[in-house]
Amino acid sequence: MSRYKIVTADEAAAYVNHGDAVGFSGFTPAGSPKAVPPAIARRAEAFHAAGKEFKIGVYTGASTGDSLDGALARANAVLFRTPYQSNRDMRGALNTDHVAYFDMHLSSIAPHLRFGFMPKPRIAVIEACDLTDDGEIVLTTGVGISPTIANLADHIIIELNSKHPKALRGFHDIFEPIGPPNRPPLTLMKPSDRMGVPVIKVDPKKILCVVETHLDDEVKGFTPTDEITDKIGKNVVNFLAGEIKTGRIPKEFLPIQSGVGNVANAVMASLGDNPDIPTFQMYTEVIQDAVIDLIRKGKVSFASGCSLTITTPVLQSVYEDLEFFRDKLILRPQEMSNSPELVRRLGLITINTALEADIFGNVNSTHVMGAKMMNGIGGSADFTRSAYISIFTTPSTAKGGNISAIVPLVTHVDQNEHSVNVLITEHGVADLRGKRPIDRAKCIIENCVDPSYRQILRDYLALSGPSHTPQNLKACFGMHITFQETGNMLNTDWTKFK
Ligand code: COA
Repeated sequence: MSRYKIVTADEAAAYVNHGDAVGFSGFTPAGSPKAVPPAIARRAEAFHAAGKEFKIGVYTGASTGDSLDGALARANAVLFRTPYQSNRDMRGALNTDHVAYFDMHLSSIAPHLRFGFMPKPRIAVIEACDLTDDGEIVLTTGVGISPTIANLADHIIIELNSKHPKALRGFHDIFEPIGPPNRPPLTLMKPSDRMGVPVIKVDPKKILCVVETHLDDEVKGFTPTDEITDKIGKNVVNFLAGEIKTGRIPKEFLPIQSGVGNVANAVMASLGDNPDIPTFQMYTEVIQDAVIDLIRKGKVSFASGCSLTITTPVLQSVYEDLEFFRDKLILRPQEMSNSPELVRRLGLITINTALEADIFGNVNSTHVMGAKMMNGIGGSADFTRSAYISIFTTPSTAKGGNISAIVPLVTHVDQNEHSVNVLITEHGVADLRGKRPIDRAKCIIENCVDPSYRQILRDYLALSGPSHTPQNLKACFGMHITFQETGNMLNTDWTKFK
């Protein structure tokens, strides 16, 4: 450590120039830098006040905390942004064309940077819990694209965060695949296998400076489960228990991937409560609070992820008991945690969340009314397309029942009907496997749609004559248009769309 220059966050930010592409560590707010990004935002504001331009391109693993996406968006300091965000101010900026945002599969960003498909990051800002004189960087709670940006960037700024113990060394499996042709396979055969090394190793001369910090990850708490998320969780678990009984899922079970957000956290809690679900492993992207609880209870025997996206009190409890977790948790780059090759080989059961789904099984997880970006596709397609069984969950309605989450045709397609196996709401389960479109539609309407919307969707199906996919081009967005005009999809009158 003695060889590096220790500076303030503002001194470090002075190395960042207008037009730079900057890569940041972490995945979700876990492991994202928290001191240098606000300092870059202050630098941008100072430039703007002097009438000068200042904007940077921002690469991250996924979403970040408010001190990164929020601070930079509010300072109007972002030229482009990829691959995923979930910050209110960043969302506002990209939906008003103030930031050029491109939504990417999370497994693709590191290889696309290496292949030169996007501008190379000039600077990488990386949060670490330890750094050695010979350039070994021990990451904190999120890996993301850190190995790739550390290798590609000309310069590295380290945020050395003493909130995280140096004993985290050993919790990471750092590996970067080479590109084709002649790319060898990723050799993991089970979630607990390792392929890489515990640290990122760089030429120490690339490390410009170190900023010492003592800052918590900005992981938000979860909304307590409610009647709806509880029912969704129970429906998922009953479905999986039934699949084990019929032998379609092996009795020792298969590794689980579970998506982001409140519903996902509730589903995990339900999995833990059901005695028909055996002890299982996770091969997932984000490890949320509920998983830590399940590891403690012995229901989850091992969890592999890209980040520990857990609230500060839960993280603290993990740190107090670090040796218990050492052989039960591993964090990997997203290129590995989300690798379609590994998802297919390990046979993952994947559970992700839709904003809306259509009666044929297409899923929209990103765009509100086809136009406004919510967060991004994240890792949902990395997992869904290659899954052993892909499940999507959603509450059947949104906005107090004025929106049906199930519509004739989604306004944006993130996962198509060919990849979505099972749709689950609080009302029930639609198993779409082996069904033609009209049968999928009937199954979804009768099992998943809110009862108040069922007749509207049955009537929609009747608008089209016999065809493989009974879609009516004049009426397919009739429920959305009715919502925009009247504020309630229940007012849909198909005679207006003939
Ligand atoms: N039309 C319009 N708005 C809708 C809607 C619909 N069909 N369905 C939900 N919404 C609104 C909700 O009302 C809520 O609005 P609010 O913030 O004003 O309250 C908002 O969308 C979020 O809904 P919520 O039910 O709280 O979502 P969530 O926290 O469970 O997240 C996703 C759902 C889809 C946004 C989230 O899972 C996501 O970003 N997924 C994509 C990435 C992904 O799947 N990653 C996992 C791979 S590991």
